[in-house]
Amino acid sequence: MGNPGFQTAHSAVPSPENGAEPSPFNSTTVKGGVVPSESGTGRSPAYSGLMAPLETRRLGRSGPELAVVGLGTWQRLEAAAASGTAGSVVTTALDEGVDVFDSSPMYGRAEALLAEGLGDRRREAFVATKIWTPSAEEGATQLDRAWDWYGKVDLMQIHNLVAWQDHLVMLERAREEDRVGLIGATHYSASAFGELASLMETGRIDAIQIPYNPAQREVEDRILPMAKDLGIGVLVMRPFGEGGLLRADVRPDDLEPLREYGVETWAQALLKWVLSDRRCHVAIPATSRPERVRENAAVGREPWFGPDERALVSRLAGYS
Ligand SMILES: NC(=O)c1ccc[n+]([C@@H]2O[C@H](COP(=O)([O-])OP(=O)(O)OC[C@H]3O[C@@H](n4cnc5c(N)ncnc54)[C@H](OP(=O)(O)O)[C@@H]3O)[C@@H](O)[C@H]2O)c1
Repeated sequence: MGNPGFQTAHSAVPSPENGAEPSPFNSTTVKGGVVPSESGTGRSPAYSGLMAPLETRRLGRSGPELAVVGLGTWQRLEAAAASGTAGSVVTTALDEGVDVFDSSPMYGRAEALLAEGLGDRRREAFVATKIWTPSAEEGATQLDRAWDWYGKVDLMQIHNLVAWQDHLVMLERAREEDRVGLIGATHYSASAFGELASLMETGRIDAIQIPYNPAQREVEDRILPMAKDLGIGVLVMRPFGEGGLLRADVRPDDLEPLREYGVETWAQALLKWVLSDRRCHVAIPATSRPERVRENAAVGREPWFGPDERALVSRLAGYS
């Protein structure tokens, strides 16, 4: 496999291979839509095709500039495959300027489906997948499998901190060998944030993946401030609370004050709530539907919510 992956602080020298076909991530700070809105404020209607481009943020000190809306694959890519749209979910995301695709060996066939969906557009994607096993040996095998699917893995994360001491040593070696771009760690539960913080303090990881939404705000206490201070990249899982927050009783009129922020749907309001905290670099909502990929990508741009708009979304979600 010859994919050279993204340019990061750990692999900053372009190879002849990637020099010949420049990555779209080298210098831009905007992606996706290409025509700025008339006002220049990004306040164009969602889905217009004439929107301000998808905003990019640097994934921590070591990472590249990435679009703020990514794509999760837990359960939803397999669901899309069941209805024959997995490939379309992935290519629609790429077409919208989404570049971060998150997966894991825990997600059934998702890693393979993602590789298949990316096909010969692999170079446009920043693949973030995971090692998820208590066994050091199996961890190395999972990396080999990911290498077969993607070539260099742009971000390899230790899923749920399982056996992180063992996997970290193996991943540091893989990073030196340029089989892995960045190293990260993830956890879904606040009960593990103490351990996650300890790992962050070692200076050995480049990025974390944590849950953040109006119902789960524990990362505000310690994890987000630490990530900012240490220059660690932040991926946000569960922006819709695994879909639970989307069931809140929110009516179109409730969203009226948010229209000027490009928000047309409740899902967009929740996603914008997350990304309006600039300590969060990329949110990775999962969906099985191409039209929702577009809906989610549409909100990844200025203007961002201030405290009042965020408070309104929290209230509408049932949390004040
Ligand atoms: N490391 C970890 O421990 C961990 C844990 C959880 C998740 N993650 C990662 O984070 C990703 C996101 O989290 P998540 O999948 O748990 O939950 P989520 O993204 O908060 O919510 C996904 C749900 O939202 C629905 N949805 C998506 N866009 C929508 C829209 N515009 N309108 C209405 N419904 C919409 C999806 O259904 P449809 O398919 O019907 O659109 C799905 O049911 C995962 O896929 C995974 O990659 C990591």
